[in-house]
Amino acid sequence: MLSSISYIGNIASAKANFSWNKDLDAIFGILSRRFDNFNDNGFYAHPDEVELRKELARVPTLAHLTEGLRGLRANGVVLYGLGLEGLPEERRNAALYALTLMLGYPTSTDQRTGRVAWDVRAAPVKEGGSRFTTFSERVGRADMHTDSSFYPMPEEQFILYVVNAARCHGGHSLLIDAEDIYRALQRTPEGRAAFELLSTTPVPFRVPAVYAAGDDTVEVFVSTVFSPSTAKRVGGRPGPRFMMRWRYDSIIKGLDARPDLDTPALRDAVELMNEAAETGAERFIEQLPTDTLMLVDNHHMLHGRTTYTDERRHLIRIRISDVPNAERIGPSGVGRD
Ligand SMILES: [Fe+2]
Repeated sequence: MLSSISYIGNIASAKANFSWNKDLDAIFGILSRRFDNFNDNGFYAHPDEVELRKELARVPTLAHLTEGLRGLRANGVVLYGLGLEGLPEERRNAALYALTLMLGYPTSTDQRTGRVAWDVRAAPVKEGGSRFTTFSERVGRADMHTDSSFYPMPEEQFILYVVNAARCHGGHSLLIDAEDIYRALQRTPEGRAAFELLSTTPVPFRVPAVYAAGDDTVEVFVSTVFSPSTAKRVGGRPGPRFMMRWRYDSIIKGLDARPDLDTPALRDAVELMNEAAETGAERFIEQLPTDTLMLVDNHHMLHGRTTYTDERRHLIRIRISDVPNAERIGPSGVGRD
């Protein structure tokens, strides 16, 4: 099912070594019966997702692929040649929805439409647009971050699927494992102090304007950057040291909005963490080819991307919660970062 498996730290790369054969039709058939409509091919968090998952688990390719991905026990997986290249959007997104439902519970990414599958591609720049926009709306680099950092329950995982790789010297995907952030911060006394402070002192994350009720509304969510990991231990191995939320621009705007939480020591710690995330820590960097699937642990990895110019670059992103949507607290993965 998976071949050429190799690891760099907690990131696994592999090649998909299977053919979907009739199983794409089987998945499409099941979703066609279960969904009233495909929501413009973005799908939605299905009200009977627990039952739907059981039904999908009987599709052999889907079950084996899920087992293979889980078996890698990695914080990040890069799987080349998933086998969905050239499919019509509805078939491709149906397969991606089904796969993410096998891995957890896909959340809706867009408050307005309820879409689960989000298109990551360049959006035209709006007139006079200086509002606080999100990474997936811009051509250009994305600072290292975790998704939904400004909400109570950031999803545990997300996938990115490459529909069209950038045909320019850019658009690389970046990943940093939590352990590498830790190592980078432990190198100096200032870094160690920053880690300590960001583990104990809540910081305000500003919710980007596009998610808030109105563009002029200021909403913040207050949390520590590092907190005790809720991940389960696997096979007797030590669990992760901590989990993290991180989005530099959101914190800086949050501190501006909440001067009561702003201190010079906290600003320094945030700057040191930003330095570790942007340059100091070891990172995975690759221009992912078309038809690559990336699966990321959003609590134990930072992700980002380098600048690109090719506006045809197109990825699909789906966020995945460990708990069913009905049990989630607060906005449910509606962030579009
Ligand atoms: Fe992101």
